[in-house]
Amino acid sequence: MIKSDVYLDASSIVSQLDKRIYGQFIEHLGRCIYGGIWVGERSSIPNLRGFRLDVLEAVKAIKPTVVRWPGGNFVSQYNWLDGVGPRESRPKRFDLAWGQVEPNEFGTDEFVEWARLVGAEPYIVVNAGNGTPEEAAAWVEYCNSTKDTYYANLRRKYGHPEPYNVRLWGIGNELYGRWQVGFCRDAEECGWRTVQFADHMRRVDPTIKLVAVGVDYDPEWNIDMIRIAGDYIDYLSIHTYIFADRQGKRYEDLVAWPIRIEENLKSIYNVVQQTKRKYNIKRDIRIAFDEWNVWYPEAQPPYLEQITSVKDAVFTALVLNALQRLSKIVPIATFAQTVNVLPLMLTKDDRILLTPQYLVFRLYSETREGDVVATYVASPTYRSEELDMLVPYIDASAVRVDNKMYLYIVNRHPEEEAEIHLHIKGLEPSTIIHRYVAGSSIDDKNTFEEPNRVRIEERVPQTREVLTIPPHSANLLIIS
Ligand code: AHR
Ligand code: AHR
Repeated sequence: MIKSDVYLDASSIVSQLDKRIYGQFIEHLGRCIYGGIWVGERSSIPNLRGFRLDVLEAVKAIKPTVVRWPGGNFVSQYNWLDGVGPRESRPKRFDLAWGQVEPNEFGTDEFVEWARLVGAEPYIVVNAGNGTPEEAAAWVEYCNSTKDTYYANLRRKYGHPEPYNVRLWGIGNELYGRWQVGFCRDAEECGWRTVQFADHMRRVDPTIKLVAVGVDYDPEWNIDMIRIAGDYIDYLSIHTYIFADRQGKRYEDLVAWPIRIEENLKSIYNVVQQTKRKYNIKRDIRIAFDEWNVWYPEAQPPYLEQITSVKDAVFTALVLNALQRLSKIVPIATFAQTVNVLPLMLTKDDRILLTPQYLVFRLYSETREGDVVATYVASPTYRSEELDMLVPYIDASAVRVDNKMYLYIVNRHPEEEAEIHLHIKGLEPSTIIHRYVAGSSIDDKNTFEEPNRVRIEERVPQTREVLTIPPHSANLLIIS
């Protein structure tokens, strides 16, 4: 048993919680869209106008606030016009990004409808790989314009008289990498390309918010992007995957990584601020952490499938805690990805499998507003060899909603329970509800044979001051 103290003061507010940190990302890749989100109206799998019902319900239950689409690498060669209009006459295309056949049954209209069904704000990334600024501007017109012009009329003709009012747009995806169709020679080229796209898109709708391509490991790229395009953009996109090597990453290192992610996001934000100051850029620019996950060697193209376990749930909870704390500088985050690709949930025939990572998102779905409260944790530590840092076993993050406190506590310890001593100022707790995801070991997972092995469990705390949390666990305490 390890022991730890958690201190919080209901009146010390770090920032407002930005609900957009609980976003999801879906891409035309493997079985994410086709088979996952979309099965078509004529499928024997239960569906709502073609949208797979079990997935729809499971996604709704984690209350995603933003959904990013259609890629990912896919978008850098996507022609959005292929995906609108009568479904039977949409072209099948060879997908240059993933080498697959894209049937185009699911396009902009289907995406916006699905996003609204799950209660999320649609976030569309435009093709800034082999696409043009004109095509991107036309896409904005199709989605948002109320004028009597060609693309707005096309939307009306296809059955959607009201504009979609898509607020958030991404300009390209990972254009720094050679794996990207239409990749940029360097940040300078990407910066100028971003300016042209932003300029075209804003002429159609000046109210949209734009996300530009940033890099998680390359400050020079980010500096060039801000210097050149800083007056045109609102967010810098950052992607981070934690790759497990062939031998499998040590659990202790995997769950140390969220600390490095948190530090890295802060330092990227600082670079953005310094660059703005240097070049006298007045625009408010923050981070959109719009792809993040763990990535195991089994997740190979074109399917990128993996079944994650409790250790990944611990990792996921730690990142969500970090994102709550960073809410002010990283107001948007979208998890990569929702279904079948690096998935939170998987489908097989007419069955669905919810991973422990999914259960963590479910645990965190209780808070979509409120104030992030400062937490102080005194915890025993261990050393992560890979990251060469001391890592506390216990991590905590808290959100206050009126007179309720939602305290998220993670125990990284692979074997031992933790006795948590709570010190709460400014709130007299009378009841505490304790829910958690822990499974029976770090490798415990759900399978199609045993879909409910790992579950959200509930226990009654012994006292209001001291509670015990399981090893390798993500916990929510609702204190009121
Ligand atoms: O999420 C899978 C892929 O990872 C995305 O297509 C790409 O943006 C990233 O490299
Ligand atoms: O292969 C995907 C790469 O992993 C890029 O997305 C990079 O930014 C990330 O760390």
